[in-house]
Amino acid sequence: MAKLSVDVAGVTLKNPIIPASGVFGYGREYEELFPLSKLGGIATKGTTGQPRPGNPAPRIAETPSGMLNSVGLQNPGIDAFLEKELPNLLTKDTVILANIAGSTIEECVSIAQKLDATDVHMIELNISCPNVKQGGAAFGVHCDSAEAITAAVRKATTKPLIVKLSPNVTSITDIAKAVESAGADAVSLINTVLGMRINIETKRPILRNNVGGMSGPAVFPLAVRMVWQTAQAVSIPVIGMGGVASGADAIEMMMAGASAVQVGAAIFTDPLAPVHIIEEMDAWLDAHGVDDVRQIIGTVQPWS
Ligand code: SIN
Repeated sequence: MAKLSVDVAGVTLKNPIIPASGVFGYGREYEELFPLSKLGGIATKGTTGQPRPGNPAPRIAETPSGMLNSVGLQNPGIDAFLEKELPNLLTKDTVILANIAGSTIEECVSIAQKLDATDVHMIELNISCPNVKQGGAAFGVHCDSAEAITAAVRKATTKPLIVKLSPNVTSITDIAKAVESAGADAVSLINTVLGMRINIETKRPILRNNVGGMSGPAVFPLAVRMVWQTAQAVSIPVIGMGGVASGADAIEMMMAGASAVQVGAAIFTDPLAPVHIIEEMDAWLDAHGVDDVRQIIGTVQPWS
């Protein structure tokens, strides 16, 4: 067996695989299927200052090789998360990444301060949700706002701070450099790609929100490209995500420069996808004589 542990911003994960925020809830449904201790980490559903019901349905639409969602950050709010979910998650022998989101900088700062007083391992600041009218991606598509919110949350916590980036920008590397300069310890990318489907019989958008975020295998090449570009642009670790569905995909993402890999939509078709991906990575490393997964990070050899 190859050594699978990786380091991200001073935190050791037993393997690089992390269910992405929003696809895994707080792990309760999945721990009936496998021990959560098998995972490198768990990114929890985006938590806001107050409970949110999310957007009206329909808020999921299938697409070829992917899906659109417009969930709208449905979650019970930070106080319920701290009281009912985090204590249970912290018993699971895996790294917990608390994903946080807010309509204002002040809301994100307040959530980060509350998390700072807990034993959560890392904070993932979501500045890239495409499904909310206030906050969300509005913070993440301009360098100055991305920098400002990162700097404010940085001051609010000493926890390792990951900033989750949007692909719906002209230059994701400029945004990554902005959040790095503001004190981010790592970046995670890509969040979903803004998309739309229309029912041609009713002429109505399928999603009640009209537009939503696309994920799944169809976005994988976009994600690999942005991870590769970002890993070269910043000195902090990059966590790659976007359409990862197999061990081979995770290896490819790490060759592009990711230090760890989040798995999203694949979990909806195979709830055991993270476990299968870990096993497939291990088999690939063994078959290729690689005894430590960290040896493959950033090893892509681009054509000149
Ligand atoms: C959502 O809840 O709308 C998805 C979260 C995100 O895309 O960041």
